[in-house]
Amino acid sequence: MMTLLFLSLAAIISIVVILVSAKFIKAGFDARSEVRDQKQTENLYQEVQDITNEDIEEDPQKGAILNQLDDYLIILDKYKNIKYLNPSAKNKFGKESLGKHIATILRVPDLLQNIDLVVNKRKTINMDLELSQPSFQFFKVYIMIGESIFSDDPDTINLFLKDYTEIVKAQKFKSDFVANVSHELKTPLVSIKGFLETINGHAKNDPEAQKKFIPIMLEQADRMENLIKDLLSLSKIELEEHIQPQDKVNLKEIFNSVEDIHQNKLLNFKFTNKIQSDFFVKGNFEALVDIFSNLIDNSIKYSENKKSIEIKIEKGDGKLLNNSYKISISDQGIGIPAEHISRITERFYRVDAKKSREVGGTGLGLAICRHRIIQHRGELEIKSKVGEGTQISVHLPVF
Ligand SMILES: Nc1ncnc2c1ncn2[C@@H]1O[C@H](COP(=O)(O)OP(=O)(O)OP(=O)(O)O)[C@@H](O)[C@H]1O
Ligand SMILES: [Mg+2]
Repeated sequence: MMTLLFLSLAAIISIVVILVSAKFIKAGFDARSEVRDQKQTENLYQEVQDITNEDIEEDPQKGAILNQLDDYLIILDKYKNIKYLNPSAKNKFGKESLGKHIATILRVPDLLQNIDLVVNKRKTINMDLELSQPSFQFFKVYIMIGESIFSDDPDTINLFLKDYTEIVKAQKFKSDFVANVSHELKTPLVSIKGFLETINGHAKNDPEAQKKFIPIMLEQADRMENLIKDLLSLSKIELEEHIQPQDKVNLKEIFNSVEDIHQNKLLNFKFTNKIQSDFFVKGNFEALVDIFSNLIDNSIKYSENKKSIEIKIEKGDGKLLNNSYKISISDQGIGIPAEHISRITERFYRVDAKKSREVGGTGLGLAICRHRIIQHRGELEIKSKVGEGTQISVHLPVF
């Protein structure tokens, strides 16, 4: 909330700076046009308008603020045609939109209505603008009317768009996160409570029922414990993300440990580990065991028994700045639909929440992996085809 207030204040200050500088620049135009009669002024004005965009951008003094501004400034004439876009607006909406109607770049009925309102009432209006195409975007829009550096016409419409997308997304992410954590904890808690009530109630003297329910309660308690452990390690990794681990770690030993952890389950698969000699990377032993253990765990959970799971290593293919290794884990499991691939490293994101929960997943595994890999200054690459399998590669810096 404080950030939002601060940014609103910053937005207002930016507008004031722009308008003040606009006044200064406009004063220059006024001085030049003073001596000319009305007809000449109109002709000149046309000329000025034609050269204004480049003129302003290339002039180090005039363009200084507008060129540096990350926010979007759009100037419209009284017909709502675009007369000027500052460089960031040009980048966003395209140079070719100059001269076109505002609705060609922002087809939002509320915005168009508010522009009409500003024109009729001659008062500044600000509004929230949310776009869903091509992706979620959120702006605060200030609609002002009056002459500016671009036009002597008092009906000139000035649109100032302040981009709040990242902040709104972060707020939404935070509340989604709390909702997700609560939901994930509530489910096992409700089931433990239900069983306890049964044992304490009508099954009080029923040792058979108690024998049946206690292991289920233990399993649910384990699930809660794992979730809390994952959440704690996620927040710890986030805090440490800027500190790159520097130890010399042998990948062969890492995969020996990973194999030990999953030994029993891997017996059900055609498992091949091609990392049979020493390969040294820069990192932290436990963290790397954790990353690869998570990836093998996924291959096991999302593949049928008897299918193959393979680990291999190649020389990095230039994904990292320095020399690197590319370590890949491939399976012949259910695969990940293309539209989900870019999202599966988000916290709690699961392609099929029901299936994942059945196999004991909470959707935090890959989020933890991603953060750990970032901490190692590495990269994660996911390739998958539904029904064929998944290959997840980790690029790590060579020691
Ligand atoms: N090898 C894989 N094959 C098919 N789907 C996968 C694979 N790896 C991950 N996924 C999909 O990506 C989702 C997210 O994976 P992630 O490891 O983050 O969570 P999880 O395995 O569900 O739970 P957790 O790792 O917390 O126990 C999974 O729920 C699954 O839908
Ligand atoms: Mg997982």
